[in-house]
Amino acid sequence: MNVSATPASATAKEKVVLAYSGGLDTSVCIKWLQNEMDLDVIAMLGNVGQEHDGLEKVAAKAKQLGCVAVEVVDMTDEFANTYLTCAIAANAMYENKYPLLSALSRPLISKHLVEVAHKYGATCVAHGCTGKGNDQVRFETSIIALDPELKVIAPVREWDLGMRPDEIAYAKKHGVPVAQSIEKPYSIDDNLWGRAIEAGVLEDPWAEPPADIWTMTVDPLDASDAPTYVEIGFTAGVPTSLNGQDMPLAELVDALNKIAGANGFGRIDMIENRYVGLKSRECYEVPAGLALIQAHKALEDLCLERDVLHHKLALEQIWADQVYNGRWFSPLKEALDAFMANTQQVLTGSVKLKFYKGGCVVVGRSSAASLYDAGLATYDNDDSFDQKAAKGFIDIQGLSIKTWATKRTELAQAPQDVQLDVLDGTGEAACADAYGQTFAQAVNC
Ligand code: ARG
Repeated sequence: MNVSATPASATAKEKVVLAYSGGLDTSVCIKWLQNEMDLDVIAMLGNVGQEHDGLEKVAAKAKQLGCVAVEVVDMTDEFANTYLTCAIAANAMYENKYPLLSALSRPLISKHLVEVAHKYGATCVAHGCTGKGNDQVRFETSIIALDPELKVIAPVREWDLGMRPDEIAYAKKHGVPVAQSIEKPYSIDDNLWGRAIEAGVLEDPWAEPPADIWTMTVDPLDASDAPTYVEIGFTAGVPTSLNGQDMPLAELVDALNKIAGANGFGRIDMIENRYVGLKSRECYEVPAGLALIQAHKALEDLCLERDVLHHKLALEQIWADQVYNGRWFSPLKEALDAFMANTQQVLTGSVKLKFYKGGCVVVGRSSAASLYDAGLATYDNDDSFDQKAAKGFIDIQGLSIKTWATKRTELAQAPQDVQLDVLDGTGEAACADAYGQTFAQAVNC
């Protein structure tokens, strides 16, 4: 849905395109950009599958706040078909825990900000991020990559409305509606892939997350007493069917979010290293995302040749770091995507998942491209593995170790004056002693 609500203004003011959410911060941003920067504001409202009370309502609010144009862009399918597809191919998991949900939406929103800026001849783009998060880095690095000429304004980072009461006072003075109800004391970012929840009581790493932070997942204690089985079909690495029914990825993720969430699966509570250098406590709900990555890995275990699989594991970490650090549009990330895409060509098959009380396990996998060879794997009579050949294999692959071990024994048995400190024939203990002595000497001098 691309709804241009108001034609571009004919004034001579410079234009800025703001990534608008409808919340208090970005609503105050509109007024601040108009009043303090003397700019015409175009609001861009991106739908990436987040919860909202109606995009039309949010668009109307932007118009009411004096935006010269409002663009509502439905990015859900693009988010699923490009961003989530690449993330699944790379089994994207920052610090082995976080499936990058906010980090995946920022480059997409940036791409559309740049497109809207070009459409309206705007010279600036703006976002509502603070100065201590990763999201500012992701927006601005993406914009640098897509149009280095565009100026970026980050009002929340620049204005002196530091504390909430100042911001509310500014809002009231400039006619920005402020909700009567006290806003939830959390900072939340959500999209089709899941929800990120931070701040409030969560800032204490010892405090258990309160029950009210979770909205996509039930408490595992309240989940059904019977397991739920789900079959995910993959085509060239992309999840394309759920329980035998073909569906577009966005729909599949949505449906699986509900199944996994109802079984209490998908919660993460972690301490995370932000790119800007601080540790933060983050809670996430990523029910479908975690399940799909688990299923995808299980299919890769079956279909990828060993060396490809092992090297891919290392490259996946680099991919996740690049994307976490805002480098979606970077030559390294592009090259890694090419590697990932190459590996996915054989990834067609099915994976059976079992959800039960907060858990999700892979209980079956199958593929026409499976490299699992029952004849090689079996211990039964029809074994096709040449066990006698293993002897030569072990001798040759162990040859360098044998040479080293023989030399070690020889030196340990030699007269005292040719012995080396570390080589007394007892291996590690001797090593540790030698290091201990060296360390002691170093410290003493
Ligand atoms: N820490 C996560 C990240 O950097 C989530 C940030 C989400 N933002 C928020 N306002 N909760 O990707």
